[in-house]
This record gives sequence, C-alpha cells and structure tokens, in this order.
Amino acid sequence: MTAYVADPVYLNGRFLPLAEAGVSPLDRGFLYGDGVYEVIPVYSRRAFRIDEHLQRLQATLDGIRMANPLPAADWKAVVLKLIETAPWDDQSIYLQVTRGADDKRDHAFPPASVPPTAFAFASPLVTTPAEVRARGVAAITVPDLRWSRCDLKVVSLLANVLARQQAVDQGCAEALLIRDGLMKEGAASNIFVVKDGVLLAPPKTNLMLPGITYDVILELAATHRQPLVVREITEAELRTADEVWMTSSTKEILAITTLDGQPVGNGSTAGKPGPFGEQMWQWYQDFKNTVMRKG
Ligand code: PDD
Repeated sequence: MTAYVADPVYLNGRFLPLAEAGVSPLDRGFLYGDGVYEVIPVYSRRAFRIDEHLQRLQATLDGIRMANPLPAADWKAVVLKLIETAPWDDQSIYLQVTRGADDKRDHAFPPASVPPTAFAFASPLVTTPAEVRARGVAAITVPDLRWSRCDLKVVSLLANVLARQQAVDQGCAEALLIRDGLMKEGAASNIFVVKDGVLLAPPKTNLMLPGITYDVILELAATHRQPLVVREITEAELRTADEVWMTSSTKEILAITTLDGQPVGNGSTAGKPGPFGEQMWQWYQDFKNTVMRKG
C-alpha cells in the first residue's frame, strides 16, 4: 500500500495488493480514455449517498453504451469490503470501469467477449484545512474546451486536467469553465453563486456534471427555506456575485474568494467567505454529523 491507496485494492473480481494489480497496456482506458469513474466520500466508515453514486455510474455507463460489470448490490459489497479493510475512518472510494483490453487497437467497440476492466480502491479523505476554509481559495476562469457530454463522469478528463493545471500554475485552487458566456462548473467541482441573498445554481444539462454534493446543497437550501433559483449564470453575473462556492464530494463546500485576481463580493466580506456560504457549510456539517455519520 501507499500512504494514499489502501491494500487490498479491487480488480476484476479479486481483492489484492496494489503492487500486484496489473492491467494490460492494451486496455482501452489507457489507449482511449474509454471508461467511467466515481468518487464516493466515506464518513465514519459509511459510504455517503452510495445509491446515488451507483445510479450516476449506471447513467454514465448507459451514456457510453457499456454494460455494468457488477449489479449495484455487488458494487456495494466491493465498497464495503474496501472500507472495512482500509485503515482510515473517513475515506474516498474510487471506482473505475473501462471497456477492457482487446488484442488489437481499434476505435470501435471490442467484441462482446472482451471483458470490461473494473477497478476500485480506498484513499484517506483529504479535508480542507480550517485556515484555508476560513480564507477561501482563489480561482481563475478559462474557456470550457470539453466535449458536449459533460454530464457523463468519464475518465477522459484531458480538458479538465489542463484547466486545473492552468489554475495551479497561477497559484489557484480551481478553474471555472466558461462556455458561450455562461459559467458551467469547475474543472472538478460544481459552482454556486450568491447574489442579493439568492442562491443561484446552474441547471443540470449535458454541459455540467450532475454533482451528488450539488443535490445535497439544493436539498439543504429547500429544507432551510433559502431563496434558490436554478438557472444559467452568465460570466458577468459570476464577476459581480456576492459569493462564489465550489462543491464536490471531496471539497464539500469551499468559498472562492478571489476570481482572476479580483476579490469576490463587496463591502465587509469582499475577498472573504460570505455569510450564506458559512451557513450552508454549517448545515452541511450538521447533516453530515447526523445523517452521514450516524447512518
Ligand atoms: N469530481 N463537476 C466535475 C467536473 C467534477 O469532476 C466533480 C467531482 C463535480 C462534483 O461532483 P460530486 O459532488 O458528485 O463530487 C462536478 C471528483 C471529486 C473527481 O473527479 O475527483
């Protein structure tokens, strides 16, 4: 095992040490990025929203015309075993399925006799340090150069990788993707905006990943009767927002307090996390500590 990946890992029906888990170099995940994935957070050894994550995995497999190698109950058993054997209470479970390895390279699908490759492992859940959360993080905007099925959680992530690296090169935590004047999401997160006390969320379309955390935020906003509008957010609205947050299974809710070098927001909270985001973060923690940790 490494400090980051627990042994055993799961590969094609077996649990084995990472060092012994091998995949053919002809695997289509390697040759074409022809595969799908999920990242599931685990709190106190309980997989959070596992049904929803497995449903999204199925939707992505359907979207790329690949059969699911395991029924949901078997995926759950794999995830449970990984969680049980990993040394951490809070974890992040990674699942990946590719279209397998044929004996040649051909873009079109391999024969049905070629089995998919299914891989899964547990990592420690890396949480944002309190001082970073208190400050918020910096982000940049970049053109969204991805394909038009961003609703599918596929491993072909080159445009996301390049966008995130552009952010890192500029000392920033995230790149916000702008397509046709609209802000869609981050390179590896969904983005929310607050304006005049109203929470704005971009709609689920083919140009955004339907985040599991995104759904939790919408539910918490409804539960606490917060003004919420789901609609497209223009680049101009992003730049004049009172608050901007990024959300994901691993980042939870994190304030973006600097955008393209400019402070986000106005007045006393300019360049600082805003009150709505702080409140939402608290609701998320309460929810986590009741629903998620206690099962
Ligand atoms: N990324 N949008 C994109 C492009 C993402 O890659 C992610 C998550 C999200 C948030 O989805 P969720 O709330 O279900 O985690 C939105 C994961 C964490 C990753 O690629 O590691």
